[in-house]
Amino acid sequence: MEKKRALVLGASQNLGAHLAGRMAAEGWAVTALGRRPAGETDLPADLDYIQADLSLPETLEWLPEKIGDAPDAVVYNAVRYPDQKAGTPSLQELESVFRVNALVPYRLLLDLLLAPRDRFCSVVVVNSDAIYHAREQSGVYSASKAALRVLTGTLASTARGRNASVSTLLLGPLADREKVRGLQRVAEQRGTTEEEVTRLFLRRSNTNLVIDELIDFESCFQSLRYMIGLGPVANGMMCRLDGGSAGGLV
Ligand SMILES: NC(=O)c1ccc[n+]([C@@H]2O[C@H](COP(=O)([O-])OP(=O)(O)OC[C@H]3O[C@@H](n4cnc5c(N)ncnc54)[C@H](OP(=O)(O)O)[C@@H]3O)[C@@H](O)[C@H]2O)c1
Repeated sequence: MEKKRALVLGASQNLGAHLAGRMAAEGWAVTALGRRPAGETDLPADLDYIQADLSLPETLEWLPEKIGDAPDAVVYNAVRYPDQKAGTPSLQELESVFRVNALVPYRLLLDLLLAPRDRFCSVVVVNSDAIYHAREQSGVYSASKAALRVLTGTLASTARGRNASVSTLLLGPLADREKVRGLQRVAEQRGTTEEEVTRLFLRRSNTNLVIDELIDFESCFQSLRYMIGLGPVANGMMCRLDGGSAGGLV
């Protein structure tokens, strides 16, 4: 039987690499996309990989042809975090953040939805709980993700009647490698447990959530699989995974 095709954008490390690897393990023919060279990713070596910088305007000129016919599933996971150490962001940096986090997914997915297609296509856009709260340090990221959320809603309207669904996987704080390593370092320095440091970190950094543990990648994959499995009824859906926070205080 012909394998179903999936495209995972922002798949070179962390959550995206996990989603792409797990989809491949479950029998999907996966194409992963990231900015770094293929040899530097956390992906299985035999996975198809497109190296592309989504912050460059010219990328959208060649990428659609490279992707070809619409896959059966598309996951937009790519994200650009503003450089916190660089001080006041330049207009160019702000544009790059908004391009990768909101404008490129909108433009790319819009074209994909409007193209003629005889197979159903599930689009899942990964978003963040940060859309509900902006702080001094995270305002630009939150704003770009809020823009993505609104644009994803309009894409769902476009998908209606077009043999496709567009849904949102909205996530709280993830157990990404950098965060986990940082928390382990602090635990070692303070002579306490990683669990305790994580709990304190989450209390301070995510005051709108009631959460003791970071969210594991596998729970995100299980949510993704469920959303794709729903088919057309997932159109417009938002699946919020906030780590047992019970909706937090929002
Ligand atoms: N981490 C969290 O706690 C958290 C919480 C809530 C929601 N989320 C959401 O979950 C998703 C994954 O987050 P993450 O922390 O796992 O991200 P990450 O580790 O920073 O990975 C981001 C991915 O996007 C790719 N990417 C970034 N800029 C790109 C560009 N210009 N062109 C092409 N690819 C580019 C990266 O490729 P390269 O590395 O090769 O550049 C990488 O594969 C994001 O949508 C994020 O908003 C994360």
